[in-house]
Amino acid sequence: MLAFLSVALSTVGALAQQLPSVFPISSSLVPGPPSAVCTRSTYNITLLTCTYTIVPFSSNIGPSPNQTIITNLFQTYITSPTNFTAGYHTPTGLASASNSAGSYLISGTLCQPLFGYEHEGTVQLLVHGIPFDSQYWDFQYDPELYSYVWAASAAGYTTFRYDRLGTGLSEHPIDGLNVVQADTDVQILSSIASLLRSGTLTGTGYNKILLAGHSYGSVQATALASRTPAAVDGTIATGFSAYGGAVPLFLASGLWSSAAQVAPYACASLASTYLLPTVPQAAQMNFYYYPGYDESVFVYDAAMPQPVTVGVMFTLETVAGAASNFTGPVLLVTGAQNLPFCGPSNQTILQETGTALFPASKYSYYAPELTGHNVNLHLSAPGTYAAMIEWVLENGF
Ligand SMILES: *[C@@H]1O[C@H](CO)[C@@H](O)[C@H](O)[C@H]1NC(C)=O
Ligand SMILES: *[C@@H]1O[C@H](CO)[C@@H](O)[C@H](O)[C@H]1NC(C)=O
Ligand SMILES: *[C@@H]1O[C@H](CO)[C@@H](O)[C@H](O)[C@H]1NC(C)=O
Ligand SMILES: *[C@@H]1O[C@H](CO)[C@@H](O)[C@H](O)[C@H]1NC(C)=O
Ligand SMILES: *[C@@H]1O[C@H](CO)[C@@H](O)[C@H](O)[C@H]1NC(C)=O
Repeated sequence: MLAFLSVALSTVGALAQQLPSVFPISSSLVPGPPSAVCTRSTYNITLLTCTYTIVPFSSNIGPSPNQTIITNLFQTYITSPTNFTAGYHTPTGLASASNSAGSYLISGTLCQPLFGYEHEGTVQLLVHGIPFDSQYWDFQYDPELYSYVWAASAAGYTTFRYDRLGTGLSEHPIDGLNVVQADTDVQILSSIASLLRSGTLTGTGYNKILLAGHSYGSVQATALASRTPAAVDGTIATGFSAYGGAVPLFLASGLWSSAAQVAPYACASLASTYLLPTVPQAAQMNFYYYPGYDESVFVYDAAMPQPVTVGVMFTLETVAGAASNFTGPVLLVTGAQNLPFCGPSNQTILQETGTALFPASKYSYYAPELTGHNVNLHLSAPGTYAAMIEWVLENGF
């Protein structure tokens, strides 16, 4: 995987020198579901506005903190967010100014169905969570069961999935504190939605964009619907809820450590601010609910570690907010045993998520049993996808 990554990036580098302003920078056909033709491209995404606010981290942390310091950051954030802010965030920093005109190389895959044109004006934009890249949405172990891209293209839908900044084949900025942050991620998502709408990204404009997120991807989807309600026309938020205790649980139970130490075979070159769950048990605790999954899926997933930055972890709550002016339909899909996001999982939190975050939307939820946080990677996935596609059709996408 590492060899593939370096080949891909050097190809991007070579092409970029010849064609600095061509969009996309590189493009190639890639394997996908039998019912679709898929193209992976690298795009130079320039952020839309200069007004977004990076949360600047203070120099107390240093650019490459050791594991002792990283664990201490988690302790402080979880037990006393106020002390964390006082100690490690700088009220006015240079970071917000220096990052405001950023552009980043983002790798995304467009899959267009081979059969049927009735949904050709619609694209499903898929945003993955932590610690994944966009393969979460097109999972390659038993893909006919676990790949949502497969299910969507079989139903005649175009999908676009991309690797979030700092994951997969997208750029991995060295600054995992002030650059790879939640606000940067939301701005990238916002740019991608806008470029899909206009047709600049793929050559075809879409009059309907259905935004589907997983976990942190759902946090970003909610943030986009809150900031720019017209950016997308409907949202499926998976692995998510408005449960207030979610972030501390997620941060604590993952036992997050430097990816370079946990998975040197894949992440040796990354700064210490890129993190992974330390041991498989930490991944099980947050993401999988036994016996609702195939152990082979767990093993397959563990073998393709994708890091998350310290910057994202300690800013993901800053972009959260009710999407009060968003009027598109919303479907919440979350495992009945989604430990971090449901705490005491019950109907109340499922209903309250709609009232609290999407008060102006037609809101529904679906909570498969025997399913943990990673809804797509449990045995319930085929039933979940059938429910998602049914909702998509019912809502006219
Ligand atoms: C991406 O776009 C920015 C802004 O237009 C430009 O400065 C930068 O050189 C581009 N990067 C690549 C690799 O083309
Ligand atoms: C990590 O860095 C801190 C601050 O420099 C230092 O106090 C601590 O001893 C270091 N821990 C290890 C294990 O090196
Ligand atoms: C927060 O910081 C104050 C002042 O340094 C300290 O007294 C208090 O114990 C800290 N709280 C926690 C939960 O660490
Ligand atoms: C919703 O729209 C109204 C009217 O444009 C505006 O005043 C309000 O600030 C918006 N609310 C949010 C949460 O953006
Ligand atoms: C259900 O969850 C909500 C929100 O987490 C909580 O306030 C409530 O006490 C729970 N109810 C039951 C019966 O567990």
